[in-house]
Amino acid sequence: MTGRICGTGSAVPKLRVTNDDLSKIMDTSDEWIKSRTGIEARHLATEETTTSLAIEASRLALENAGVEAEELDLIIAATVSSDHIIPTLSCEVQSALGAVNATAFDIGAACSGFLFALSTVQAYMMSGQCKKALILGAEVLSKIMDWNDRSTCVLFGDGAGAAVISAEDTGIMSVVHGSDGAKGMVLACDNRPVNNPYKKTTADLSYVSMNGQEVYKFAVRTVPKCIEQALEQAGVTADEISCFILHQANRRIIEAVAKRLKQPIEKFPMNLMECGNISAASVPILLDNVNRHGMIEKEEKIVLAGFGAGLTWGAAVLTW
Ligand code: COA
Repeated sequence: MTGRICGTGSAVPKLRVTNDDLSKIMDTSDEWIKSRTGIEARHLATEETTTSLAIEASRLALENAGVEAEELDLIIAATVSSDHIIPTLSCEVQSALGAVNATAFDIGAACSGFLFALSTVQAYMMSGQCKKALILGAEVLSKIMDWNDRSTCVLFGDGAGAAVISAEDTGIMSVVHGSDGAKGMVLACDNRPVNNPYKKTTADLSYVSMNGQEVYKFAVRTVPKCIEQALEQAGVTADEISCFILHQANRRIIEAVAKRLKQPIEKFPMNLMECGNISAASVPILLDNVNRHGMIEKEEKIVLAGFGAGLTWGAAVLTW
C-alpha cells in the first residue's frame, strides 16, 4: 500500500505585484530581478491570511478529488508563516472543513515542507494507519520579509497549495529527503526571543535573512543528487519522467538541475514568473496548475522536489 494523489487545489492572494511595481517603492529593477531569478511578479496578501489561503486551497483539493471532508483521517500542514503559534494551521483547516475524523498537525521544513508531508503520509499509509489524507503548504511570507532588504523581499510571494492522497496500490513510488542543520544560518528567521519576568528582551522583530550565493550553490549541488536517488529507489530513469515539479526559487537553479539530469527544460514547468518563491506552497501550487491544465496523463510518472531552509531537501517519484 502507498499513497496516490487524487486531487489538488491552490489559492493565491488577489494583489499581483510586478517587478516594476516594486521598483517604485525600493531601489530595484525588473531587469535585475528577472535576469537573476526569472521572477516577474508575485501575489501578496492584503485581505488574505495564511489560514484563509490554506482553507481555500484545501476545499478546492477536496472538490477536485471528489472526497468529503469527513473521509479524511489525516491533515498535515507545512508552513513557516502560520497566523498563530497555537492552534496549528492544520487544526484550523480541519475545523473550517469539518474534517471531524482527521488527526491534524503541522510540520516545519520550510521549502521542503510539502515533500516531508508527502513522505509522512506515505509512511502512515504503508503502515495501514491512514486511508485518506490532506497535505498542504501555505505561506504568507510577506509578513516575515524585511521590506528594506531588496536582496530578499523581491524573491518571495504568498499562497497555498493542497493535495488529497488516497491509500492505493500505486502512487508514491519513492521519497528521499535530508537535512543539514549545520548550514542553517544561510537562510534564517528568528522566532520570539526569551522574554519572562527573569529575562526581559527589547529585541526587535526578526525577518528573513539569506546568503543567496550559498543557498544557490547548495541547491544546484543537492537537488539533482536527491532526484537521482529518488529515481534509483523507484527503479525509474529520468527519461521515463514526464514532468519534474521543482520548488520555484529560481529559474537558473531549475535550468541547472535539468542540465545535470540531461533532461529538456520543457519537462520542468514553472510558475515562479507569476508567483515567486512561496516556500512550502510552491510545489503544491505548481502541481495544481499542472493538474488543472491537464498536463499530466493518468499513469505517467512525475517527480516532485523541494529544497530550502534548514537546510532541507526532498524528492519523490510518483505515478499519477
Ligand atoms: N535589485 C537590485 N540590486 C540588488 C537587489 C535587487 N533586488 N538585490 C541585491 N542587489 C545588489 C546587491 O546590493 C549587490 O550589489 P553590489 O555588488 O553593489 O554589492 C548585487 O546586487 C549582488 O548581485 P549578485 O552578486 O550578482 O547577486 P547574485 O547573482 O548572487 O544573485 C540571488 C542574488 C539572491 C538572486 C541569487 O544568489 C540566488 O538566487 N540565490 C538563491 C536564493 C534562493 O533561491 N533562495 C531560496 C531558496 S529556498
